[in-house]
Amino acid sequence: MSDQVYDLSQYVEDLRSITREETDDKKILERVAPLAQKFAMTPGLIKDEYYHCNEEQGMSFHLLHEDEDHSNAVFVLAWLPDRGTLAHNHKTWGVVVGIEGEERETWWLRKDNGSKPGYAELERQTENTVGLGQASCVLPEDIHTVWNHTDKVTLSLHTYGKHINFTGRSEFDPEARTEKAYVVTVE
Ligand SMILES: [Fe+2]
Repeated sequence: MSDQVYDLSQYVEDLRSITREETDDKKILERVAPLAQKFAMTPGLIKDEYYHCNEEQGMSFHLLHEDEDHSNAVFVLAWLPDRGTLAHNHKTWGVVVGIEGEERETWWLRKDNGSKPGYAELERQTENTVGLGQASCVLPEDIHTVWNHTDKVTLSLHTYGKHINFTGRSEFDPEARTEKAYVVTVE
């Protein structure tokens, strides 16, 4: 039915179909991004509790869905003003769609070959802003920093091939040239 709301269960079914049919991460992202944009605009998606931010972490991950094997993970993230992440990768594909406010992304290029444990050399690349309804995609090895540069709580919808605490991803300090495991607190 065309007037039916695109709800979480339909979105998850589509994610499962796409990841069954495609093996190439770029093709998965091409197909997931417009659906993530559609789902992000679903009326009633945002609950009051999603505005809660973890003060220590600077942002909160509100888990909406993950499959039993941690695949097809969907979160709403709430970002405190002037807070964000260090540079990080994801070790899985991901799509971010702005729901409220804006967040700024800085992209980094890794210059070393990753052979020295705990060491990473990053070079700053471009910056962009993700606003309402806009989608930003990451491939598993892409590295970015995300920051809420506004003075209000920012919300965004995040969809990953796998729950990001189960991918073995890393956090980087470009100044100190360090790499370490990156696990987040999920609400
Ligand atoms: Fe990220």
